[in-house]
Amino acid sequence: MGKFDNAANRGVMKIKPYIPGKPIEEVRREYGIKDIIKLASNENPMGPSKLAVRAMAKKLGEVSLYPESSAYNLRNALAMQLNIRKDMLVFGNGSNELLNMLAQAFVTPGDEVVFSTLSFTVYQSAADMTGGTAIMIPHKDFAHDIDGFIKRLSDRTKLVYLCNPNNPTGTIISKQDFEKFMEAVKPETIVALDEAYFEFVDDRNCPDGMQYLSKYPNLVVLRTFSKVYGLAGVRVGYAAADPEIISIIERVRASFNVNMPAQAAAEAALRDKAHVEKTLKNNNDGKKYLYAELEKLGIEYVPTNANFIFVKFPANCNVVFEALLKKGVIIRPQYDNYGRITIGTASQNKRLIAALKQVL
Ligand SMILES: Cc1ncc(COP(=O)(O)O)c(C=O)c1O
Repeated sequence: MGKFDNAANRGVMKIKPYIPGKPIEEVRREYGIKDIIKLASNENPMGPSKLAVRAMAKKLGEVSLYPESSAYNLRNALAMQLNIRKDMLVFGNGSNELLNMLAQAFVTPGDEVVFSTLSFTVYQSAADMTGGTAIMIPHKDFAHDIDGFIKRLSDRTKLVYLCNPNNPTGTIISKQDFEKFMEAVKPETIVALDEAYFEFVDDRNCPDGMQYLSKYPNLVVLRTFSKVYGLAGVRVGYAAADPEIISIIERVRASFNVNMPAQAAAEAALRDKAHVEKTLKNNNDGKKYLYAELEKLGIEYVPTNANFIFVKFPANCNVVFEALLKKGVIIRPQYDNYGRITIGTASQNKRLIAALKQVL
């Protein structure tokens, strides 16, 4: 036990540190390999939009000033694109910050925070840090068990996190299940629908959270510029919800939480439809290629609606992970034989498959 453990907030001490994808530089240092590919953090292999890079560069000379805390220009552009009111948006330093802000704003000790096992780990830490009681619903075939969620709702359920598509499995909650859940949950329970990978979805039976905002005032839809827009490094995410919910989240938002170059980049990225199309095409092509190659290798996978694939290796994932690292390929181990692989560029995918062939 550390000297200050008793002094710390008890909820904070419950938090298990988040383990991010292994950085390229770290592998370079540890293994002395120069040519490394990272397929571990669901970043955009096509890079950022050039329009976004230019917009950021233009702002660099102005960074002695604070950014506009309201993200005025980005807010206008996004509200227009989503066809929602401007006061229905709040921006975060990545959607990760918003997931935490939601718990800070709504959860008090003893409240229940409900989410699926085998989902994004930040839901657990958000519940822990606010003293909430985490209620984990076992996944069903790697997907959310919505009936299991409904059965576990109680008068103490304050916040529910639904991840759609789900990280790390790439599965979706169907429209029917989502609607069934929203009808079953109390109107005071906040439902956070985390749509970080929404733009990659190709199953038509996946709900678009934005279409439900007027029907369900307790719904909060979260999205990010980190994935399809390729801006993970500058940290911009947003939540859309009823203006009354937004004004409560605003109370816990630190002023200037989204920096000036990031706001400019996100606004420009929204306009760069060609970059989004290129990203989606690469993802679809890569998905088909990887499915075919994984099948040839006898590696089972869960069909995905995102930019990553959840796979079952014929050996423990940590062993496969270490062996791939030595070949300069970083993936994300999960548990037992399961791992998650981000879909890369065509050449990255080829390199991954070649390395897997050697390793297995
Ligand atoms: C499901 C999910 N939600 C939220 C995030 C957070 O993304 P960001 O903070 O970069 O917007 C991620 C990142 O990987 C994610 O997988």
